[in-house]
Amino acid sequence: MTDLSITYMGLPLRSPVIVGSSGLTKSMNNLEEIDARGAGAVVLKSLFEEQIKVEVRKVFSYEDTQTAYTEAEDYISNYAREQTLDEYLNLIQEAKNKLSIPVIASINCTTAKEWPAFAKNIEKAGADALELNVFVLPSQVDTEGKIYEQTYFDIVEQVKKEINIPISLKISSYFSGLGNMVKKLSWTGVQGIVLFNRFFNPDIDVDNMRIKAAHLYSNPEEISFSLRWIAILSGQLQTDLCASTGVHDGKGVVKQLLAGAKAVQVCSTLYLNGLAHLDPIHKEIHQWMETNNYEKIDDFRGKMSQKMTQNPAAFLRVQFMKHFAGIE
Ligand SMILES: Cc1cc2nc3c(=O)[nH]c(=O)nc-3n(C[C@H](O)[C@H](O)[C@H](O)COP(=O)(O)O)c2cc1C
Repeated sequence: MTDLSITYMGLPLRSPVIVGSSGLTKSMNNLEEIDARGAGAVVLKSLFEEQIKVEVRKVFSYEDTQTAYTEAEDYISNYAREQTLDEYLNLIQEAKNKLSIPVIASINCTTAKEWPAFAKNIEKAGADALELNVFVLPSQVDTEGKIYEQTYFDIVEQVKKEINIPISLKISSYFSGLGNMVKKLSWTGVQGIVLFNRFFNPDIDVDNMRIKAAHLYSNPEEISFSLRWIAILSGQLQTDLCASTGVHDGKGVVKQLLAGAKAVQVCSTLYLNGLAHLDPIHKEIHQWMETNNYEKIDDFRGKMSQKMTQNPAAFLRVQFMKHFAGIE
């Protein structure tokens, strides 16, 4: 029998398949099914800075905004914060009690201010690791890239002061020097970097003149983007790489492992096919390993990374060529 066990961020996982942070990972029922279906670990739904702010605003929409409410505002914002946060900490505790797999908490953050102290509670609640979903949209035309980039280092520095459990950074690709930025992030002492998050993107409904959400779920073709960067960066960093976006089946997992990923997150495919889709994903990985005579993941991890492949230029090629694309 082929063995899917791996180590990610120092945590032993029975499978490289991690269920990514999303609405699928916020209820105990789902978490138990994810565990029962053999996933290696689960990343809980992120606690959003915005989510807390929205709750506070909801409460205040009933208030008389003409009155001086500074004290009340402080009280209510703390109250709302505690409610949300308590629920989250309870979920971590319950998940830890009931699941056999590592539970990775997640925080969606854009600043290093106010919240990092809260990370201590996540560690106390029993989370095995913390994934920081950091995204600062570099949208201001007067702000230089290095200012945005500094936020990432500040966040890691502040959170590292608070906790000892492993930390992973889930990032986007919106950096001018992506390779160098990821390398520098790997020097900060984080145990994992997740490439990449996939964000809400806007679309325009031209019939109703409204902004609407572009495709909520990824499609399997989107795997190429993270595959390129996992392949280029693996073996060059002082941290584990975890692949995310566009992995919809067992072959997708195998591709990312061949590129050099330590672990692979899945999300959209489970929304589209149900949590039961974890079964065929695992079956396909086992089958591929058997067909290719691999007993363990480490026997083939990184074999197709840029460093190891016979054709390293393929990962750097960006222009269409007739030879590769078949069309001009
Ligand atoms: C409905 C939905 C909710 C999500 N919520 C979160 C979240 O709370 N935190 C987070 O880090 N990523 C979140 N994601 C992003 C996923 O974890 C994942 O990174 C992304 O969907 C790309 O992976 P996929 O191609 O396997 O879907 C969400 C994705 C979807 C579709």
